[in-house]
Amino acid sequence: MNTEIKNEWIYDQAPAEVWEYLTQSELLAQWLMPNNFKLEQDHEFQFRINPIPSLDLDGIMYCKVIEFIPLKKLVYSWKAGPREGVLTMDTLVEWNLQPHGKGSKLSLIQTGFKPENYPIFMSMTTGWDKNVKKMFNLITGKKLNIGVIGVGQMGASLIRQYAKAGHTVRFASSGAAGKHKALAAETSAKEVTVPELMDADVLIVSIPFKEIPALAKTIAGKIAAKTIVIDTTNYYPVRDGKIEEIENGMVESVWVAQHLQHPVIKAYNSILAGSLAEAGLPSGTPDRIALPVSGDDLLAKSIAARLINDSGFDSMDIGNLQGSWRQEPGSPGYCTDLNLPQLKNSIAKAERKGLGAKRELALQFILKQDPNQWMEWHADCVSNNRAIFESELTV
Ligand SMILES: NC(=O)c1ccc[n+]([C@@H]2O[C@H](COP(=O)([O-])OP(=O)(O)OC[C@H]3O[C@@H](n4cnc5c(N)ncnc54)[C@H](OP(=O)(O)O)[C@@H]3O)[C@@H](O)[C@H]2O)c1
Repeated sequence: MNTEIKNEWIYDQAPAEVWEYLTQSELLAQWLMPNNFKLEQDHEFQFRINPIPSLDLDGIMYCKVIEFIPLKKLVYSWKAGPREGVLTMDTLVEWNLQPHGKGSKLSLIQTGFKPENYPIFMSMTTGWDKNVKKMFNLITGKKLNIGVIGVGQMGASLIRQYAKAGHTVRFASSGAAGKHKALAAETSAKEVTVPELMDADVLIVSIPFKEIPALAKTIAGKIAAKTIVIDTTNYYPVRDGKIEEIENGMVESVWVAQHLQHPVIKAYNSILAGSLAEAGLPSGTPDRIALPVSGDDLLAKSIAARLINDSGFDSMDIGNLQGSWRQEPGSPGYCTDLNLPQLKNSIAKAERKGLGAKRELALQFILKQDPNQWMEWHADCVSNNRAIFESELTV
C-alpha cells in the first residue's frame, strides 16, 4: 500500500494569500475543519469534525506544529483514532509553497500511513484535493469591505469598479456625506464620512497630495491595524505647492505613510483617470495594461493586485515602498499604459535622477488641456508621455 499522499496545485493566487489560508485559524475553518491552530513552534492543536465510524475516527485530529518557514513551508503532525488515547493513525503533513508565474505552487505530502489506515488514506487522498480547491475558490471569491476617500476622477472610477466586482464599498470626500447621491444610487455604494471608514479591509486614499496633512488630522493613528491603505496620490508642485521633504528626496508614498501613521501600498498612481475609467480589459486579454505596486507587506500587495485585476488591469509587484519612486511621475512607466512585459522593462530602466525634470516635461501637455475634458484627451496624453520616454520604453 502507498504510505504517503502527494499532491500539487498551481493557482493564480499569490503565496501570501495562500499562506494566510494555511495558517489563520478562522480561515482554515472555512476550507478544512474547525480548529485551534496557531502558527507557533510546537503548538499543539486539534482539528475537529463529527465522528466517522466507518473510518474508525472519533473526529478529533491531534496535531502539533513541527516546523514552519513563513510563506514557504509548514509541517504539522496529524494523529487520529477511534477514541481518546487510541491513536491508530500517526502521520505528518507537510505544505510547501512557492511563487509560480503570477500565482503559486502549493504542494502537500502527508507521510506515515500504515496498512490499517487504508480507508482513511483513500478518503484523505480525495479529501485534500476537494478542500484545497475550496480554499482557492474562497480566496478568489473573497469580497472585501472597501472604503474610498476622495470621489474625484480616480475615486469615482474605483468605486464603480469595486462595486461591479461585488465588493461592499463605502466612500467619503471632504466634509459631510450626501454630495454624491447619483454615484451612490448608480453603484449602491454608501456615502459616509471619513471617520466612518477606519475599519475597512482596504482604504483607498485618492485625494490631492497637498490635502494629505489635512486628512491626517482626522485619521492619523485611527486606521484599524488590519486595514490595507492604498495610496493613489502623486506630487505635482504646480498644483500642490513645493513640499520641502519631497524636494529633498523623500519618496512620495513614504511621506504619505508617515502622515497617516499607517503603512501604505502605492498603486493606481501611474494610470490616467481616463485610462482607468475605460481601458480595463478582462484578465488574460493580450496587451492588457499593467500597473506597478509597491509596499512592504506581501499580503497587502496581493490584495492590491486582486483589486487592480477587478479594475481590469494586470499588476506587477516592483518592491518595497522606499523603491516606489520607480512608479512616480517622471518615470517611464508613469501614465504610458504599458502591458506587463513593457512595464517590467520600463521599471528596470527607471532612474531616480531626472524624475522631476521628466515629470515637468510631460506636464506641459496636460497644462494645455481643458481639465474638465479629461476623458477626451487622456489617450493623446499617453502618446505624448510615450514619446517623452521613448528610449526607456524600447525593449
Ligand atoms: N486624475 C488622474 O488622472 C490621476 C491619475 C493618477 C493618480 N492621480 C492622483 O490621485 C489623487 C486623486 O486625483 P483625482 O484626479 O481623482 O482628484 P480630484 O478629481 O481633484 O478629486 C479629489 C477628491 O478628493 C477629495 N478631497 C480633497 N481634500 C480632501 C480631504 N482633506 N479629505 C477628504 N477628501 C478630500 C475631494 O472632495 P471634495 O470634492 O469634497 O473636495 C474630491 O472628491 C491625486 O493625488 C492625483 O494626483 C490622479
